[in-house]
Amino acid sequence: MPGIAPQAVLLPLTADTDLPSSFLDDVISGLTSPQKSLSSKYFYDETGDRLFQRIMECEDYYLTRCEMEIFRDFTADLAVPLNIHQSAFDLIELGAGDGTKTRHLLDYLERQRADFRYLPVDISGHILEVLAQNLENTLPSVNVVPTQGDYFDALQRICETSERRKILLFLGSNIGNMTVEDCSTFCQQLSSMMNPGDMLVTGFDLKKDPKTVLRAYDDHEGLTREFNLNLLRRINEELNADFDLSCFEHYQTYDPGSGACRSYLISQCEQAVTIAGERILFRRHEPLFMEVSRKFSHADIEALAGESGFSQISEVCDRKGWFMNAVWLKNL
Ligand code: AVJ
Repeated sequence: MPGIAPQAVLLPLTADTDLPSSFLDDVISGLTSPQKSLSSKYFYDETGDRLFQRIMECEDYYLTRCEMEIFRDFTADLAVPLNIHQSAFDLIELGAGDGTKTRHLLDYLERQRADFRYLPVDISGHILEVLAQNLENTLPSVNVVPTQGDYFDALQRICETSERRKILLFLGSNIGNMTVEDCSTFCQQLSSMMNPGDMLVTGFDLKKDPKTVLRAYDDHEGLTREFNLNLLRRINEELNADFDLSCFEHYQTYDPGSGACRSYLISQCEQAVTIAGERILFRRHEPLFMEVSRKFSHADIEALAGESGFSQISEVCDRKGWFMNAVWLKNL
């Protein structure tokens, strides 16, 4: 009986059911456009989650360690501007993943006796189960309500069921996966769903030595390569396609001017791929654009806050100055 399955208790607001058809539509529309592309939001199936875990632990990928340092060593610097004793609040994390960084903040909030609930949102139901289990083991007194689904759908559903002040977390430089326009629209959309006094804490990867950035996405162990190829494998499996993974090579670029770090899979020969009956032709050396991971300057970040209806009230960086968590207050 689905009504009494453990996941139904864990994920009371699930929206899993509309995933497959939009996945197929997005894949077909990306592969039939003049510049072929796939959406990196589909990287995270169970294998993708596991690969991303390994990326986060690998030497070359500095982002997670930097943000972890902020959450572990500068927890109070992060938390004080949030006015945690002002009123009861919902701490809503968009793209929560396994929650290892957030745990430091949750622990701090518990010790400060803040009145709050933790609402992690993620596209991956699998990773939410891992997260909920981890928190159950380590911080059993925190009230955790996971939501699986797209950020805005989930946020909408949360807004409809709660009047409390909102503190949103959007960590891990997930914001970097959006184009400049999408990023601006996204922040404005978030802002439109927030009330004055609500806050947003975002993790930004900062512009730095281009070689350091490039290395993080062109790692020695070939994990990023596998991570990209895994999406082709997932499409084969879930959308009845026949990508030959050995005919695509991973190619990474970083443009230090714009801060765009881009992943491509390059077709190694002229080939045809069939997806749910649709035939897609690849030329030899034709690029398939997979992901952008944008890097920001301090000025880029403040400008983004201003144009989306926020005031930046605090910024916390790691000791190397490679990563920033910015705290924004929704304007009146
Ligand atoms: C999870 C989106 C932050 O862009 O740095 C890691 C994903 N891609 N290596 C990033 C990713 C390749 C990651 N984010």
